[in-house]
Amino acid sequence: MTTTTAVSSAPGTTPPEGADPGSTASHIARTETHAAHNYHPLPVVLASGEGAWVTDVEGNRYLDCLAGYSALNFGHGHPRLVARAAAQLQRLTLTSRAFFNDQLGPFAQALAELTGKDMVLPMNSGAEAVETAIKVSRKWGYQVKGVAPGTAKIITMHGNFHGRTTTIVSFSDDDEATADYGPFTPGFVSVPYGDIDAVAAAIDDSTVAVLFEPIQGEGGVVVPTEGFLPALRALCTERNVLMVADEIQSGLARTGRTFACDHDDVVPDVYVLGKALGGGLYPVSAIAADRDVLDVVRPGTHGSTFGGNPLAAAIGHEVVQLLATGEFQERAQVLGARLEKGLRELIGTGLVAVRVRGLWAGVDVDPSLLTGRQVCEGLMRHGILAKDTHGSTVRFAPPLVATESDIDLLVTTLRTVLEEARR
Ligand SMILES: Cc1ncc(COP(=O)(O)O)c(C=O)c1O
Repeated sequence: MTTTTAVSSAPGTTPPEGADPGSTASHIARTETHAAHNYHPLPVVLASGEGAWVTDVEGNRYLDCLAGYSALNFGHGHPRLVARAAAQLQRLTLTSRAFFNDQLGPFAQALAELTGKDMVLPMNSGAEAVETAIKVSRKWGYQVKGVAPGTAKIITMHGNFHGRTTTIVSFSDDDEATADYGPFTPGFVSVPYGDIDAVAAAIDDSTVAVLFEPIQGEGGVVVPTEGFLPALRALCTERNVLMVADEIQSGLARTGRTFACDHDDVVPDVYVLGKALGGGLYPVSAIAADRDVLDVVRPGTHGSTFGGNPLAAAIGHEVVQLLATGEFQERAQVLGARLEKGLRELIGTGLVAVRVRGLWAGVDVDPSLLTGRQVCEGLMRHGILAKDTHGSTVRFAPPLVATESDIDLLVTTLRTVLEEARR
């Protein structure tokens, strides 16, 4: 792997070309006044990005260690993705699925090959792909497994995050995500994450699927107990239940393998994909499964105006081609090992736990020292952008195009922030 020198994170003075004029404060004020407050962003207004680095409206540069929650695995403005998108933008952007287009077939074939499945069903957002997996699992349950009409049950995991639709938050145990959004969709049973006995006990004749994240990203990069995924694979096969892996955040090279399930040599029945499938340029999601599962979907029973449009398909196809080289999986492994070593050295200096898979880390901060939010604010002051979760946890998921010196910069800056808090 080549190592290039990290670009300085020192404050700059020149706003990026084409940036919307206005100070940080005025942009924040306009956003807070006219956009609903469903997020609590760090007070930085970004105007451009290249690779692993972004620049704000004042010209300050930051190392992006969130990467759009892994949507930007290939970095900001990857030249191949931008070129492919630009060419397709000029040619044809939307047909609807009322007609065929010349981009969807090649993309579907390439993604089916990447996943080792027969077919894919393209959608747009991650939540839509999860909804699609739920609908397909239920239909498969009624039409193939023979579950009694209206009784299909799906097993989910405590601490899950699968998106924000009403059905998806129906099986969330996060009070913030659910408060005052009921009534909720029935048909889900939640069990402790990684508890194979609890999954086995929850399965009955009406169970059609187990929906899980191979690593819980929003939960704080939580890796299941050793052996859970192979045991789940065996259990789903034995009980004729679909194993549905939500790899929206964990998949597409982030963990050092194409899919997080690959670490355990486990192949689920259904892959749920999103985020990096659109290269951070455009929302592209899909589910992938074999014909006996996806053939339950017939014309008129499911769809989306934008799902499988030629622009999305062209970008998604280029993403699959980038992944087929294996370069990004390898970068995640090498850079992740470096990040893990650096972060582990900080345990006891303000960090109480570190979890790493590939270039994806969750660190638990000593809550008596700082909150996760305060760590992120401190990092931001020193030119690093990251995101907290669940009070005292911070996630790091830099784009896989980051350099070794970028990773070193992240570790040394975190050390500085912790030192400043201990003073
Ligand atoms: C595992 C997982 N599933 C689903 C989603 C929802 O994706 P989207 O925000 O694109 O709807 C996310 C988003 O963070 C996710 O991490």
